Amino acid sequence: MQIQHLLFSQGFGTRRICAGLVEQGLVEVEGQWVTDPAHTVVAQGLRFRVQGVPWLYQERAYLMLNKPAGYECSHRPGAWPSVYTLLAPPLRQRGEGAVPGVQAVGRLDQDTTGLLLLSDDGRFIHRMTSPRHHVPKVYELELRDPPTPQQVSRLLAGVAIERASEPVRAAACSITGERAMQLTLTEGKYHQVKRMLAAVGNPVERLHRSRIGALELPGDLAPGQWRWLQADDLQALG
Ligand code: URA
Repeated sequence: MQIQHLLFSQGFGTRRICAGLVEQGLVEVEGQWVTDPAHTVVAQGLRFRVQGVPWLYQERAYLMLNKPAGYECSHRPGAWPSVYTLLAPPLRQRGEGAVPGVQAVGRLDQDTTGLLLLSDDGRFIHRMTSPRHHVPKVYELELRDPPTPQQVSRLLAGVAIERASEPVRAAACSITGERAMQLTLTEGKYHQVKRMLAAVGNPVERLHRSRIGALELPGDLAPGQWRWLQADDLQALG
């Protein structure tokens, strides 16, 4: 692949900007400066630097972000900044035509924290979000009142929430502290956790997603930080 096309595919700007970056001597490929935009490289596994910033070629982007509170999962946010502003600029600029840009894999509310996946692979996004695939999402809840065993039973049996044609149920639910609960869902209706807890009369005061499938939010990924998913992370997602 020509280096100018590779830079474009990775989100380094328009085709003209990418050619210009190379011509201006701002691109280093495996330790060598490259100044011909038509210089060809083997894309797979390629390490390069643009204006000194290291990058690894990735045909498709698969990322995890530790979402902080106060960010919206939207490209056109309203009152709060977008989670996409937390990503490296090339990740925000990837995608053209049939390949969409990087998108959140399902949404977390502005005030929800924790594990958020992002990708530009439409099939992956569909597999992770479709209720048919039953990918479990685990949430840690801080509640207004101490949870009761009756509330747990109701959440497991199914509760009626507005605009849902059938009762929605937790795949798993347990009391984890004085005002804390862990709840697992295999679907993702709008504000589902908060609406389910409101339906049993114990509103959520804090919500954090700790796990998707077998993939846990790593303890060393600080709020606001992102990283590429590795092969074992993708395997953990099933
Ligand atoms: N359920 C909610 O109510 N909010 C979230 O952000 C995620 C699940």
